[in-house]
Amino acid sequence: MSTPIVSLAEIIQNSEIAPDIYRMELQAPEITQKANPGQFLHIRCSDTVSPLLRRPISIAQINEKTGNMGIIYRVVGEGTQLLCQKSPGSRVDIIGPLGRGFPLPDKDKTSVIIGGGIGVAPILYLAEKIAQQHKNDNSITVLLGFVTKQEAFGIEFLESLGVKTIVATDDGTLGYKGFPTDLLDKYLKMHQDISRHVIYACGPKHMLSRVKTIAGGKNIPAYLSLEERMACGIGACLGCSVKSTQEGYKKVCKDGPVFEAGEIDLD
Ligand SMILES: Cc1cc2nc3c(=O)[nH]c(=O)nc-3n(C[C@H](O)[C@H](O)[C@H](O)COP(=O)(O)OP(=O)(O)OC[C@H]3O[C@@H](n4cnc5c(N)ncnc54)[C@H](O)[C@@H]3O)c2cc1C
Ligand code: FES
Repeated sequence: MSTPIVSLAEIIQNSEIAPDIYRMELQAPEITQKANPGQFLHIRCSDTVSPLLRRPISIAQINEKTGNMGIIYRVVGEGTQLLCQKSPGSRVDIIGPLGRGFPLPDKDKTSVIIGGGIGVAPILYLAEKIAQQHKNDNSITVLLGFVTKQEAFGIEFLESLGVKTIVATDDGTLGYKGFPTDLLDKYLKMHQDISRHVIYACGPKHMLSRVKTIAGGKNIPAYLSLEERMACGIGACLGCSVKSTQEGYKKVCKDGPVFEAGEIDLD
């Protein structure tokens, strides 16, 4: 893991892409060069003391040529509310890249990537990176889940990469009616060569827990990106601890946010 960089990054764009979901583009070439899929930024949302704590947001897109980086965030509280009011041309104090990201698959592996809700954000960067390395569009399938059509994002981007993308919505307004984990079940039933597969997932805890069960039942390696409330973001405060399946606890900010499914207890 490389040393994180503190940057006063210029905001290039900050616009609403779905109700209460924003995409912000930042100019931060030093962080862009070092980032890996699954890593996150720790963002100071305010110029005053409140909120005091930075907010963790995943890196969703990287443009190595321009040094720009995209994040996609849902407005849920004070910090993200302040973030969505920032204008292009202003600057935001960020630290990154932080955490342990997704290990990229070996060349002979087939990746199944599952994203749920705002958890789709880091999946975009992961899919792009794997697509660049493999240059074989059969080697990646992305399964996305949203509550409803209005909240869907990232589909066009994935399709522009030539990546097979299947969408589920809880209410059936777009794609399959149901959960992305139903799609995972179906996918694995249709494929004989599951020993060549690797699963990646980011989304709500109940989705990750289901992915862990499905992958475990078929002995497929799975890497899950977890979300916990964070304070320091660098492993110093224990604020983001999750129960390990071995002994004690793991820190989401430093040992994760991406864990091999067997490492962590999601019950
Ligand atoms: C590694 C990591 C990556 C993340 N990536 C993204 C991302 O790409 N896009 C995105 O929109 N969000 C992401 N999050 C979640 C994001 O950090 C929180 O939504 C944000 O901190 C909320 O700040 P706030 O001040 O707006 O809300 P607050 O006022 O702090 O909280 C508002 C509500 O959201 C809940 N909440 C806050 N933080 C979390 C959390 N970490 N997990 C679950 N519930 C929480 C609170 O309990 C409360 O109900 C990520 C979290 C982690 C740990
Ligand atoms: S947020 Fe402080 S240890 Fe993870």
